[in-house]
Amino acid sequence: CIDLGTLYKDTGHFTYDPGFGSTAATKSAITYIDGDQGVLLYRGYPIEQLAEKSSFLEVAYLLLNGELPKQAEFASFEHQITHHTMMHESLKNFFQGFHHNAHPMAMLAASVASLSAFYHDDLDVDNPEDRKLAAIRLIAKMPTIAAAAYRYSIGWPMRYPRNNLEYVTRFLHMMFEVPSEPLQLNPVAAKALDLLFILHADHEQNASTSTVRLVGSTGANPYASIAAGITALWGPAHGGANEAVLKMLEEIGTPDKVETAVKRAKDKNDNFRLMGFGHRVYKNFDPRAKIIREMCHKVLGELGVNDPLLDVAMKLEEAALKDEYFVERKLYPNVDFYSGIIYKALGIPTEMFTVMFAIARTAGWIAHWIEQHETPGARIGRPRQVYTGSAPRDFVPADKR
Ligand code: ACO
Repeated sequence: CIDLGTLYKDTGHFTYDPGFGSTAATKSAITYIDGDQGVLLYRGYPIEQLAEKSSFLEVAYLLLNGELPKQAEFASFEHQITHHTMMHESLKNFFQGFHHNAHPMAMLAASVASLSAFYHDDLDVDNPEDRKLAAIRLIAKMPTIAAAAYRYSIGWPMRYPRNNLEYVTRFLHMMFEVPSEPLQLNPVAAKALDLLFILHADHEQNASTSTVRLVGSTGANPYASIAAGITALWGPAHGGANEAVLKMLEEIGTPDKVETAVKRAKDKNDNFRLMGFGHRVYKNFDPRAKIIREMCHKVLGELGVNDPLLDVAMKLEEAALKDEYFVERKLYPNVDFYSGIIYKALGIPTEMFTVMFAIARTAGWIAHWIEQHETPGARIGRPRQVYTGSAPRDFVPADKR
């Protein structure tokens, strides 16, 4: 590392904190995590209570507005969301341009970014009413776009949202309904998905939310900011882990192969990691994983699904929790470890798992985007670096190199 102090004027001091392990980039009143105690609160409410007693749409209202809605407030919010579920008819044409086996996350990111082209002209990010409308639009349209991406990927015609249905049920209808056979939806499925959406709705300054804030800090419009969040979520170290977990469990195949997988995960010469294990903040159990684990058994039982991957998952968890390597490093199952098994039981294809996460996290992302714009004197996000490159040198003409 070159001592640039001798070359350039000293530009002051800053911290070197790779991965932002100990740097708070913002103040926020939305979500609280105590990683040592395994505590997660949305606006002060414990995740366990919200999971048991609330609904995703109510939680979205809470994240956006800071308080649980009174009945009339919720009715009005639900009405507004329902009013904005349609995507612009021209947006449908975009899908025709995607490759037939495009990943739904690619289609989701591109389509959400393109909402800027439909709803941006008259949007003033400094106007609270405009910001609220953008939030409503995003939460309302995300399931419609997600379902359209899925149906395009399997060659089915898109379904319009049925606005006489509730948020999650409406989404499942858009995903699975075919004209020839009206969908017989098991209420257990809708309840399970609603609960998963609650658990994924926000998680303070994770990679995707920080991305939304960083993009938002430049004054970019909300659709572009959320599209950036979607792409950050896609990576397997973040939201893409749910898809990666299921692929890993399928690869392991049977409980007797678990030991080999654990051995591989500990080998520093092998890039293999136990997907769905570990978390930057939780050094105790992820409270969401506890809820999902319990729910996984319940949902599979109620839906009458017998998935051998659940046995592999349980064996893997048991083996890792007993293993010194995982214990020492405090690597516990995270939110994504069991969620894929539930999605699979609901008939949701693996490529759609991270899309499910994105639908839910939209509530958190847009709440953070709004909070950022409500904060007076907010500055553009601009991390520094520690330069490790060449000292100043003179340009060498091509024939002399
Ligand atoms: N399997 C094996 N070893 C692991 C795992 C894992 N899943 N996770 C961390 N480790 C090890 C690392 O190799 C490292 O070991 P070392 O100290 O000997 O070098 C140590 O544990 C610390 O790991 P870091 O990568 O430094 O931890 P970090 O906080 O940067 O990363 C992360 C956290 C990305 C979640 C990591 O644990 C991981 O890759 N997990 C698997 C992917 C995953 O499940 N992601 C979803 C996270 S939750 C979410 O985003 C919704």
